[in-house]
Amino acid sequence: MLAGKHILLIIGGGIAAFKSLDLIRRLRERGAEVTPVLTKAAEQFVTPLSVSALAGNRVYRDLFDLTDEAEMGHIQLSRVADLVVVAPATADLMAKMTHGLAGDLASTLLLATDTPVLIAPAMNVRMWEHPATQRNLVQLQADGIAVSGPAEGDMACGEFGPGRMSEPLEIVDAISTRLAVGPLKGKRILVTSGPTHEPIDPVRYIANRSSGAQGAAIARALMARGASVVFVTGPADVAPPDGAEVIKVTTALEMQQAVTAALPADVAIFAAAVADWRMAEASDRKLKKSKDGLPVLVFTENPDILREVAHLQDGRPELVVGFAAETNDVVENATAKRARKGCDWIVANDVSPETGIMGGSENAVTVIDAAGAETWPRMDKTAVANRLADRIADALADRT
Ligand code: C5P
Repeated sequence: MLAGKHILLIIGGGIAAFKSLDLIRRLRERGAEVTPVLTKAAEQFVTPLSVSALAGNRVYRDLFDLTDEAEMGHIQLSRVADLVVVAPATADLMAKMTHGLAGDLASTLLLATDTPVLIAPAMNVRMWEHPATQRNLVQLQADGIAVSGPAEGDMACGEFGPGRMSEPLEIVDAISTRLAVGPLKGKRILVTSGPTHEPIDPVRYIANRSSGAQGAAIARALMARGASVVFVTGPADVAPPDGAEVIKVTTALEMQQAVTAALPADVAIFAAAVADWRMAEASDRKLKKSKDGLPVLVFTENPDILREVAHLQDGRPELVVGFAAETNDVVENATAKRARKGCDWIVANDVSPETGIMGGSENAVTVIDAAGAETWPRMDKTAVANRLADRIADALADRT
């Protein structure tokens, strides 16, 4: 997937540096050449020998190493790559990049390069949340630097929160996206994700348990194969994927508008759990308890966004994929749904509570298309996303 691509990998000094060893391995497995650069602090966490052995390349460490200057000057070194990746990007490295400091080899390369840069931040949660780091992040993004992560979780320092470096495979995906390589290069794909919230009054709403995890994973898998993704998301639990054009909405009506505005697209994937009904008239004041009895909620139907797009006469995406969350007779119901909605594929899953799928990390799906039903084994939502993205790439290739 990354064959022939050259990555200049700058490893910063943080505990997450050990993950960069795995990152090197993953990049090389995919055919990339990796030239590693270690900061002084990074050498406290990983040895130049192990980095060099895994990369199959020499490690660059010192700005004033004259042999390096004779063989390859630091300006040249900064430009040989297709992408400069900083992983882990420490708070210190981010600050240096923001302000254009060039006191060591890593920061000099970052200042001298005219190659796209991707950073994978990793630091203590307080350092990440500090206004200084957040200011630096905004500036770096404004400077066109791509950012992968950080993820939230338990940290080596014993605290919990955002600050963990993205996993190596997530960084590989972000790199592939940034380099726009893969079978979906040049394709524009619309993905809807998450639940919708339908207001009852200014403080209450109707919602569902969708976390948005499957939709976000699909968007990432598509981008990793080179697609550009418009991601229309309701109020989800999970963060929208880096690198997508993200449009945040709350209600089904807003989602409908956002989808219409985002078209045309080559493919549209409707992974959102859109509320079927909204209040006929949401109250603009908070409903009060009353002696006259319980409030009566009057519903009206929401537009079926998938159905509308699947029936477009003009500008229908080449491939329209819907989801069906069912609690019983999954294949039968989903097959009927495919016909009713007019979409090409339905990805059906059993969301009965005992499966733990809604809001969980795994999914068990059956893909229904014109040829019939194909049941996949239960697997991680990321694995489902990757398999679906491959299936989409194959289908588009078959049509051309
Ligand atoms: O009819 P049902 O809600 O089961 O259909 C599910 C599929 O239809 C999903 O792909 C969902 O994103 C889409 N949908 C939609 N607009 C609605 C309801 C569902 O796009 N109002």
